[in-house]
Amino acid sequence: MVPVKLRVALLALILTVISANANAEDVRQGIKLDPQIKEQFLAEMRGHMASLDDIVAAISTGDFAEAAQVADIRLDYGHRMWGAMEEEGATPEQIAAMKERMKSAGMGPGRGQGMGMGGGMGFGRYMPPEFRQMGFSMHDASQKLVAALKASAKPPVANDYANVLSALSELTGSCRGCHDAFRIEY
Ligand code: HEC
Repeated sequence: MVPVKLRVALLALILTVISANANAEDVRQGIKLDPQIKEQFLAEMRGHMASLDDIVAAISTGDFAEAAQVADIRLDYGHRMWGAMEEEGATPEQIAAMKERMKSAGMGPGRGQGMGMGGGMGFGRYMPPEFRQMGFSMHDASQKLVAALKASAKPPVANDYANVLSALSELTGSCRGCHDAFRIEY
């Protein structure tokens, strides 16, 4: 049995910590978006959360091919287009072929008026360059995860799980990094 005095002291400590957190200064850079764009942006973010959850679920059942497919279609550069193709019923092979075609046509991150300059289809158009850069980090991390998943044995062995988790942590780190740096301004 914990003495009452100690319990009271603990409760006081917990409350202090909670209120200190709530008062912590918000140093994130605010981004102003039109209300409609903001709604679409947040919906996309919830989609990212769902994709991440699908990836983790697939990894947990050892279905690395499924995890790779989700990361490759829903979190890569141009994911809005690949996601739309998927919804229209395109096969993963058809989507991969289209990606290759776009790449060889010179469309991709950081190329001229391409996606890297805010000329892409995504929300980067409405965002400052530092934000876009963090978006690229997420797309790059998703591609590293795809590579780690595809390089794994079938069925995956312990070392594959270690490599995949390390790549997954880079991906979640990219979510966290941007959330620490930016917020929507109201
Ligand atoms: C390039 C920046 C960036 C990246 C990368 C990013 N986010 Fe976000 N996300 C934001 C911003 C900005 C907000 C709005 C936060 C705010 O205004 O407090 C947000 C909000 C969210 C929300 C809340 C949505 C809502 O309806 O309120 C979720 C969930 C989310 N992000 C998930 C993710 C996940 C999962 C990842 C990684 C796979 C990710 N995000 C990557 C910038 C980013």
